[in-house]
Amino acid sequence: MPSVGEIMESMEYGPSTEDATPVRRWLTDRGSFGHFIAGRFTRPETSFATRDPSTGDELAQVSQGSARDVAKAVRAARRAARGWGAMAGHDRARFLYAIARTIQKRERFLAVLETLDNGKPIRESRDIDIPLVVRHFYHHAGWAEIAATEFPDRAALGVCGQIIPWNFPLLMLAWKVAPALAAGNTVVLKPAEYTPLTALAFAEICSHVGLPAGVVNIVTGDGETGAALVKSPVDKIAFTGSTEVGREIARELAGSRKKLTLELGGKSPFVVMPDADLDAAVEGVVDSIWFNQGQVCCAGSRILVAEAVAERFETLLQRRMQKLRVGPPLDKSTDIGAIVDPIQKERILSILDAATGAGAELVGGEAQQGCFIAPGYLKNIAPANPGMRDEIFGPIATLSTFRTPDEAADLANNTKYGLSASIWSESATVATDLAARIKAGVVWVNCANIFDAAAPFGGMRDSGYGREGGREGMLDYLTPDTARAARDPAPAVISAAPADNTMPGEGIDRTVKLYIGGAQKRPDGGASYLAQEELVPLGGRKDIRNAVEAAQAALGKWQGLGGHGRAQVLYFLAENLALRRSEFAGFASAEEVETSIRRCFFYAGFADKFDGAAISAKNGYLTHVQPEPHGVMGIVAPNGSPLSGLMSLVLPAIAMGNAVVAVPSQDRPMAALTLAQVLACSDVPGGVVNIVTGPREVLGNGLAEHDGVNAVWISGQGETLTAVERAAAQTLTPVWSPEVGDWNGAEAQGRSFLRAASRTKTVWLPYGA
Ligand code: NAI
Repeated sequence: MPSVGEIMESMEYGPSTEDATPVRRWLTDRGSFGHFIAGRFTRPETSFATRDPSTGDELAQVSQGSARDVAKAVRAARRAARGWGAMAGHDRARFLYAIARTIQKRERFLAVLETLDNGKPIRESRDIDIPLVVRHFYHHAGWAEIAATEFPDRAALGVCGQIIPWNFPLLMLAWKVAPALAAGNTVVLKPAEYTPLTALAFAEICSHVGLPAGVVNIVTGDGETGAALVKSPVDKIAFTGSTEVGREIARELAGSRKKLTLELGGKSPFVVMPDADLDAAVEGVVDSIWFNQGQVCCAGSRILVAEAVAERFETLLQRRMQKLRVGPPLDKSTDIGAIVDPIQKERILSILDAATGAGAELVGGEAQQGCFIAPGYLKNIAPANPGMRDEIFGPIATLSTFRTPDEAADLANNTKYGLSASIWSESATVATDLAARIKAGVVWVNCANIFDAAAPFGGMRDSGYGREGGREGMLDYLTPDTARAARDPAPAVISAAPADNTMPGEGIDRTVKLYIGGAQKRPDGGASYLAQEELVPLGGRKDIRNAVEAAQAALGKWQGLGGHGRAQVLYFLAENLALRRSEFAGFASAEEVETSIRRCFFYAGFADKFDGAAISAKNGYLTHVQPEPHGVMGIVAPNGSPLSGLMSLVLPAIAMGNAVVAVPSQDRPMAALTLAQVLACSDVPGGVVNIVTGPREVLGNGLAEHDGVNAVWISGQGETLTAVERAAAQTLTPVWSPEVGDWNGAEAQGRSFLRAASRTKTVWLPYGA
């Protein structure tokens, strides 16, 4: 052992290991764990080991949940749901508050347990994970207290199945359980197989605070247990994990009417502009990709640096990287701990092999004995290299350069994911311009990986949908309490019709066409079908593709108009609808026309009032939650109410700045085709609304499968909904199916439509820091 004098001379770190004795005693006491169902631990049955990844030592035996265990837990949650949902918000708040307090009192214990089970440095579990968990329960105690007044027209969903990953085990539990409980739901949660221990310690906390039996149930196990939970009769599944499994779950739930939120992978850009504070940006990289061994869904894993400063930045980055200490997770001076499991280590190394095999150069990133990998980055890497495309989920970033802000934005968006971004620039104009252009659910300006319970978190594209945290997160655990069973007549089988489009038996030819890009278009196949005694164009997939392209082309101009500009267009549309009422005679009832005019006024009024909010998250930041249009939306309108049904869906979508490809009523498409003519003379720019008539299932599937369609709405239930949701699972397109009984009623209009027509972007800006 070196003397004090020698240490003062060398200034070497000495180990400073957190005491794990209380945790080890707890583990020995418990021996092995059953599931936590209806307020009690079950007797452990078939079990598996959970290990300390830094040593490989077994920590405990945990039960492998069977479908029977899951069913039992769901029944317990169902029994508890009524009482918990009916409980006064204040009383629910007290339980959440008690949970927060108890976690706070056991902070050190939970941090050590988390570090042992996961391998993350104690510095992180102690200073980041557990404090955020506590904050999450406090924040949601607040939502429970005020839910009745803040969400007066919403009700709890019932029972929520929640599946979480291993990278932030207790924090992900908190993100799932706290809002669900605050909203009045009960839960069955399945922790990840590598890291079940803090969830089991949390179960003890639930007992300790006297949470009613069945409100929180925890079933441990692997993917099979998770799959059983997805299949069980719950009202919602909330999943965080890989994109692959997310897709599988979306497919499984197609047509089930269960709510689904998915928080999936990412390959997030970390953009360093030429005027960035490079030292700060390098610290940002440390917090971004070398945090939690890079096992972070929103890690800034693609560093894009301006060519002008690339050399200097890389020098600083290397210098900082060399100072990072890889070592035992319980040592308080460790920066990089253990990868969660040997399987994950292998997965990381195989992507690195593929990346270097394809020509990239790996700097650092050496595999070490045990579950350790040194921090590193890949350079000289081509856009198509697997290391650039795939989520590595380890402490390895990619480093590439750009020349102009436009190129930075293009590179940042050159990914299938859309979870987060971090932008570094000393110019507010440059940074906020990029923040607006990058396709991501969360954007950090001059900071990285900042989280708070009040700030919605979640992604788009292959990163999933739904938000966790804040008001948005609460809304994802609530349902409109006015929802009625959707009623919509099933369409008739499309009958074959002659190939020409002329009206049968009329003196003058009348030709009805599709409406694409502001022009009347013949369907690509040149075929028609008979509906409302007219020959109506039989649209197909090619027409959907053309319409999507037209919609994409229209987006810039339409969004450029701003809310006020779009409102003017909607007022003008109302005026023209009123003037041309008579043209709808025979195609839509007078009530439908009146409803459509009213809806134009309503959404014109809202076009510049569906606002974002600057929320009170962390001090030193302005956290802005901005609703953004999805982009191109596919809308499969109801088969009944051919005009008001269509307009009730199209108007909120375009008011928010989306462009729409609409499939109108299959049996009664003439109202929509008449509407096309009104749109054409109402200053609605060509391509903002496109109308493709034909078989709703085929066209709906075409929309859901198209990568250029960012959200799909479909009215009704049954096989078409199932088919469309299944197609959308592949592209991870969010599908919304509003439950509307009367398309002329108040239920078919309102904020919930605007909310579904948008998704939020959370932008973190330094503010008074
Ligand atoms: P995973 O997606 O398989 O596991 C996440 C959770 O889902 C676990 O609780 C697991 O038991 C459960 N699960 C697995 N298969 C399921 C199924 N068919 N139905 C229901 N639940 C199921 O992730 P895994 O295999 O642990 O990690 C693989 C890769 O996924 C990582 O390398 C990383 O790229 C990504 N990942 C991303 C995460 C994120 O936060 N976005 C978290 C974990 C993994």
